[in-house]
Amino acid sequence: MAHTTSVSIWAFAFSLYFGVSKCHFTIPLKIYPGTYNVSSAVDLTPVRRVALTSDGNGLSLASDPTGTVNFLDMVQNLQGDSGRGYYIEMSVGSPGQTLNILVDTGSSNFAVAAAPHPFITHYFNTALSTTYKSAGRTVAVRYTQGNWEGELGIDLISIPKGPNGTMSINIAAILSSEGFFLPGVNWQGILGLAYPMLARPDSSVEPFFNSVVQQLGIPDIFSLQMCGAGLSASSAADPAGGSLILGGIEPTLYRGSVWYTPIIEEWYYQVEVLKLEVGDQNLDLDCREYNMDKAIVDSGTTLLRLPVNVFNAVVEAITHSSLIQDFSSGFWDGTKLACWMKGETPWRFFPKLSIYLRATNTSQSFRITILPQMYIQPITDVDGTLDCFRFGLSSSANGLVIGATVMEGFYVVFDRAQRRLGFALSSCAVSGGVALSEIAGPFSAADVAANCSSGPLKEPLLWVISYALMAVCAVVLIILLLLLILPCRRRDHSGEITDESSLVRHRIK
Ligand SMILES: *[C@@H]1O[C@H](CO)[C@@H](O)[C@H](O)[C@H]1NC(C)=O
Ligand SMILES: *[C@@H]1O[C@H](CO)[C@@H](O)[C@H](O)[C@H]1NC(C)=O
Ligand SMILES: *[C@@H]1O[C@H](CO)[C@@H](O)[C@H](O)[C@H]1NC(C)=O
Ligand SMILES: *[C@@H]1O[C@H](CO)[C@@H](O)[C@H](O)[C@H]1NC(C)=O
Repeated sequence: MAHTTSVSIWAFAFSLYFGVSKCHFTIPLKIYPGTYNVSSAVDLTPVRRVALTSDGNGLSLASDPTGTVNFLDMVQNLQGDSGRGYYIEMSVGSPGQTLNILVDTGSSNFAVAAAPHPFITHYFNTALSTTYKSAGRTVAVRYTQGNWEGELGIDLISIPKGPNGTMSINIAAILSSEGFFLPGVNWQGILGLAYPMLARPDSSVEPFFNSVVQQLGIPDIFSLQMCGAGLSASSAADPAGGSLILGGIEPTLYRGSVWYTPIIEEWYYQVEVLKLEVGDQNLDLDCREYNMDKAIVDSGTTLLRLPVNVFNAVVEAITHSSLIQDFSSGFWDGTKLACWMKGETPWRFFPKLSIYLRATNTSQSFRITILPQMYIQPITDVDGTLDCFRFGLSSSANGLVIGATVMEGFYVVFDRAQRRLGFALSSCAVSGGVALSEIAGPFSAADVAANCSSGPLKEPLLWVISYALMAVCAVVLIILLLLLILPCRRRDHSGEITDESSLVRHRIK
């Protein structure tokens, strides 16, 4: 296999035009089909729409922690990578059963496998826990990818590398699932860290972190450092890892200052995106396009997902500035890999990507930037002679998602107490001494709308008027035609009448 592919590298060589100098050379880029399965990436944003009811569970500023919390004890408590998710070890039930649990800020149920499944090594056996109590209700959750069904219950859990203490937590015991557990993942459950509004079957099922804050008295804030930046997205050995700090901020995990953006609605962690830049070029779309129908920060989504219009504009801008003319569309839509000869890393040909977020002073913004190393992602060894990469962005039909691809550049603070999300440079987003992410501000937000999340784009008034006029014309036309047809109707025999009038209706349409 290696022989045939190395021949085709040269057959697939694409031209590359270099910079302003127009110096022309070729770099052996190969678009690699098949082998890598994009669908094996985790994508766990729930697709369900949640009715916008008040969850009745307002923010409470947690009292100060009773004991001394040592956040350093929680550093490096995560394993995994962006492709298969980041997970934390938990002890569930009494006596404790050890399980790995995926950290997902885009959903609100704590759910663990409670029955065997071919892709998982072990599961939570409720019969072996003396403290497990069934709530006698069933629950089902559908995600962008995969779904599960199970039974609601309550049990005691503790986190070996988390805050000291045992908590009584709502658990969904997963009894059946489809496309949820994937081959090669090393987790057996999911920890939904978003707000009660997303909890299933309804918001009365208190989410994990709400329970922790209430029972341990820790501050209503957690923070997340995911360390897979620049590492191979599917390498089996040496998972990248990271840290989930429950109850505060650990200063050793970031450099510089923390920039905050308001959480504009408490269901997902919804934020307001004001602007996107590819290289130095502003995409210049109406800022409401970036937030349609929402913009969220979600550790359970692998890629940076963009609304279709925005995605297309970004791909076009990248194509222009990447200097690679003949990129296969399969690369952009995630069905193909781009491969170069070993050592010919392509990052210098790609621009930086910047996302501007509303600052807590709403007349200002700040910018988070990722280098190409973060979104042109190496895939381990499909073939010994090539370095292959996938595109870390995808298009989305349900809003913009700042997923793991972007989060890996930053230490992200989920400051629920003050209803804001903080971003700081992650201490682990560094490769060969070079920082893979940047953060800058403040910038004036005077050039963007006061509210970029104000729902659907309004049709310009002129269009509304012309639609109304067209409707009036159509009605008049139908009446005229009916007047023409009706006299004939009396003369014709049955059958044919309906045919003719439906013909007319077709033409009017
Ligand atoms: C890729 O994913 C498809 C659909 O989920 C599956 O049928 C196929 O077996 C997978 N291929 C590999 C190589 O994993
Ligand atoms: C838990 O308690 C032990 C002993 O009191 C202490 O050393 C440790 O720092 C605590 N861990 C956390 C995360 O607070
Ligand atoms: C918010 O930003 C504006 C514009 O930069 C500035 O004039 C104003 O003083 C800031 N307000 C606060 C409270 O910092
Ligand atoms: C922006 O508009 C949305 C939808 O109309 C509204 O829910 C939200 O409160 C507005 N935000 C601000 C800051 O005005």
